[in-house]
Amino acid sequence: MPKRKTTTIMNFQFTEEQLAVQMAAREFAQKECLPGVIERDEKQQFPAEQIKKLGELGFLGMMVDPKYGGGGMDTVSYVLAMEEISKIDASVSVAMSVNNSLVCWGLETFGTEEQKQKYLTKLATGEWIGAFCLSEPEAGSDATSQRTTAIDKGDHYVLNGTKNWITNGNSCSVYLVIAQTDAAKGSKGINAFIVEKNTPGVVVGAKENKLGIRGSDTHSILFNDVIVPKENRIGEDGFGFKFAMKTLAGGRIGIASQALGIASGAYELALAYSKQRKAFGKEISNHQAIQFKLADMATEIEAARLLCLKSAWEKDNHLDYTLSGSMAKVFASEVAMRTTVEAVQVHGGYGFVKEYHVERLMRDAKITQIYEGTSEVNRIVISRTILK
Ligand code: CAA
Repeated sequence: MPKRKTTTIMNFQFTEEQLAVQMAAREFAQKECLPGVIERDEKQQFPAEQIKKLGELGFLGMMVDPKYGGGGMDTVSYVLAMEEISKIDASVSVAMSVNNSLVCWGLETFGTEEQKQKYLTKLATGEWIGAFCLSEPEAGSDATSQRTTAIDKGDHYVLNGTKNWITNGNSCSVYLVIAQTDAAKGSKGINAFIVEKNTPGVVVGAKENKLGIRGSDTHSILFNDVIVPKENRIGEDGFGFKFAMKTLAGGRIGIASQALGIASGAYELALAYSKQRKAFGKEISNHQAIQFKLADMATEIEAARLLCLKSAWEKDNHLDYTLSGSMAKVFASEVAMRTTVEAVQVHGGYGFVKEYHVERLMRDAKITQIYEGTSEVNRIVISRTILK
């Protein structure tokens, strides 16, 4: 019989650094995010203080090179931190995900040195936060159908159009905006731009009144004859759609981790509640009907966690993570829905009232199946890859 080989590549142990990040995020979530989370949700209040402290902890530019003010951490650490913060407040973690995955990563990977010095250094430290403007009233999943135009005027572009459902829409200082420069070229005529919020012609539109992540600051943004200097274009002319797709591939790891956190937060609450609540003369955790629900939750959450971590590991090892990121996003977001619905059920009538947190987690879970690529879009990405 051949001698069994051991591998040093598949390693399920976290490093000391990764565990320290997980612990710091857990502590931050408990101490800074838990107090007031129900009120912020009710009042749709942006967690400004929490985001400021997140920046001070280095969690808003976790993976950015320290030379630009970032934390220099790996994507595995990012998944661990996203899970911990999302257990408690997904309105905080979505701001964190957009800033890290879409804005900082996009700028660090594709920006010029001048753009990095001018913008990334502020965004990675949390002095500023950023927003990513791709979706439009008629271009959500069908992202190539951009109606926002960026007309080339020589040394600058003129931007006109409306973006919808923009996370951090009012609280940010800078937008990354995707716009159509040459409609005849289709997706190859699209560009991405850095637009400062205080540029004349930028108007922050109505704030959305949402089902979940109600603390998150979601707005439409209008661009009316906005002049954007040419040096604010990201990448070569026509690179904007690829920029958006490549950036979103990593963003999907962030949102998958958010979904994972929402699920594991709801599971932990249901587990604890089941050990306290008595019915028919014993704690409900002694009833098989509850035990099986908890068993399914724990199993699915573990599978979702492994998918998130595998995708993060691939990204850290410079492998293609597009497929695994979409798989993680589809699966984790569906686990978040199933788990939160069951966590409410385990809580019975108490689950339906706000004090027990699980109804909020259930409302928050839904968006993870919609933003950064709906489950359907991510199934397109997966099926195209496996059928290639
Ligand atoms: N990496 C690099 N290039 C990519 C790519 C990727 N991951 N995906 C597509 N491309 C390229 C294609 O190769 C193609 O280039 P060529 O013409 O040179 O071959 C080009 O982009 C056009 O691609 P498709 O033909 O595949 O385009 P499509 O119209 O069929 O659309 C889609 C594909 C996957 C559906 C895409 O439109 C999509 O991802 N839509 C969803 C958009 C999305 O996720 N929006 C989220 C908004 S941001 C957000 O939600 C943030 C927040 O608030 C939390």
